Amino acid sequence: MFFASDNGSGAAPEIIAALTRANDGYARSYGADPIMTRVKWLIRTLFEAPEAEVYLVATGTAANALSIAMLTPPWAAVFGHGEAHVATDECGAPEFFSAGAKLIPVAGDHGKITPATLTAALSRVGVSGVHGVQRGMLTLTNVTEAGTVYTPAEIAALTALARSLGLPCHLDGARFANALVATGATPAEMTWKAGIDVLSLGGTKNGCLGVEAVVLFDPAKAWEFELRRKRAGHLFSKHRYLSAQMEAYLTDGLWLDLARRANAMGARLVQGLAQVPDARLLHPAPANMLFPAWPKGTNARAEARGAIYYAMPAPEGMEGARLVASWSTTGEDVDALLAALKP
Ligand SMILES: Cc1ncc(COP(=O)(O)O)c(C=O)c1O
Repeated sequence: MFFASDNGSGAAPEIIAALTRANDGYARSYGADPIMTRVKWLIRTLFEAPEAEVYLVATGTAANALSIAMLTPPWAAVFGHGEAHVATDECGAPEFFSAGAKLIPVAGDHGKITPATLTAALSRVGVSGVHGVQRGMLTLTNVTEAGTVYTPAEIAALTALARSLGLPCHLDGARFANALVATGATPAEMTWKAGIDVLSLGGTKNGCLGVEAVVLFDPAKAWEFELRRKRAGHLFSKHRYLSAQMEAYLTDGLWLDLARRANAMGARLVQGLAQVPDARLLHPAPANMLFPAWPKGTNARAEARGAIYYAMPAPEGMEGARLVASWSTTGEDVDALLAALKP
């Protein structure tokens, strides 16, 4: 009954097998390994983006912070949802690596920015000349931190506003595969075709051991990114182990299969919660992350019965939770949790 995070799951057997294969013999270091050549080819093919440049790092924080640092000058504003991981869970890394760019929280229900809230935020920044930060860039997250998803059309509406002011757009795709499966969109539709310039493509949460890709759809800043990655201490010498994970992840649709499993368990939870007395969802949950609220005492009861998840704030008189299913969550795990939640 482990629902604290998809980071709590192990690595998928296909990923471990790929690491074992990559462990044989010798390979050039620092990204010059032949597996990385295949990773680039896979990403360019899957994203229908033959010009794209691809770099691997070990954490989502590095992928996001280095992407943001590349896309914005220090005196500019980064527009993102107030609950975004970059704003709440990266210990100031985007500000640090960008040498002080200012994160501007944008409002929006269910973890999603809307054209209206973005327009309002854009209109408040860059209006006092030299005295205030300038408008810098937009960053979105899909799957969002509230477990909801943006469709490609929703992303395109937001990037159009940013792009009309000349601002580049970044997508935090720590759960990108889950968002694709939830919407049925193609990788290209969800990114560059919807106005995204740079993607943090997650692997770790969805069955890898520790690897994320940064995808630059416009390669103009590729060299700058390489320098930033090295300077940040994220250029791995034994890079083949990062490459091997990403290659296996993207081969034969493994990434989507793993996300499908996680999302199916999310859907099973949503369905089962209807049978838990007085439980309700605080946000729609189309992927693998749910935010339910239920009567007080439910969390203590479930915990005493062995369930592991984070308690969350909830409306007056209730208590809340965050439940995350992963590629390795089973139907039995879900059913056990649902039983543990009931009086
Ligand atoms: C939305 C989002 N972005 C990025 C990350 C990646 O963070 P980390 O640096 O822990 O790999 C996470 C992990 O919790 C996340 O939920």
